[in-house]
Amino acid sequence: MKIHVIIPAGGSGSRFGQHERKQFLTLEGRSLLYRVIQIFHDLPMVAQILVPIPFDEFSRIHDDPESLYHSEKVNYVMGGRSRSVSVYQGFSHLICCEENDVVLIHDAARPLVTTDLINNVINATKKYGVAIPAISVSDTIKKVDDDDVVNATVTRSQLRAVQTPQGFLHKHLLNAYEMLDFRNEKYTDEAMLMEEINVPVKIIDGDKENLKITTPLDLVVAQEILKTR
Ligand code: CTP
Ligand code: MG
Repeated sequence: MKIHVIIPAGGSGSRFGQHERKQFLTLEGRSLLYRVIQIFHDLPMVAQILVPIPFDEFSRIHDDPESLYHSEKVNYVMGGRSRSVSVYQGFSHLICCEENDVVLIHDAARPLVTTDLINNVINATKKYGVAIPAISVSDTIKKVDDDDVVNATVTRSQLRAVQTPQGFLHKHLLNAYEMLDFRNEKYTDEAMLMEEINVPVKIIDGDKENLKITTPLDLVVAQEILKTR
């Protein structure tokens, strides 16, 4: 049983609002993408890493002298219009997979993921077939209509904020891609594909520090967290 990793890095970072795409912004001298590649690259059980990136970023990787970017374990493919297409691009370029191998999908925008969390996701995926980390929600969440008027309050104890890495046996992802139109932009993570084909998704404990860099404030918080490590 092998571990294959897809790191979607094909986004434009529109909510971050800077010219530079957020996955190439740096934290203590290393880009978010570099940090994420390094974490997975350092795990001996990882067989290959596929990284979908925007077409016009290929030259950046190509020209970067950093050897990790050019490791034979790491390959780059063209990202797609949506995250789900980018992930599919990575998936379709994986080689030598068997049906019970584990495929991990991890956002380039979550540079603070720990090896403990990755190992927990791998173990739960082996046991349950699909496993994703999540944390409870501390805010009260409201549903609103188009005019920003509240429709309802969602029961907080039933809500979870989902993170990555998300883990799947290869056969489940393959099945989903055969059965669904994964290009549909409604799919904001791959666990949603499982929900549609009725494969149970096991939730495991996430990590509050495994935040996704979405706005500039997140980068400030990430810097502070790194200082404590
Ligand atoms: N992603 C991708 N391909 C896309 C869109 C997103 O590979 N077409 C990746 C991002 O690069 C990121 C991850 O999916 O690592 C999570 O997406 P998100 O945080 O939404 O990043 P962006 O889409 O870049 O940001 P925004 O939604 O603010 O534009
Ligand atoms: Mg996005």
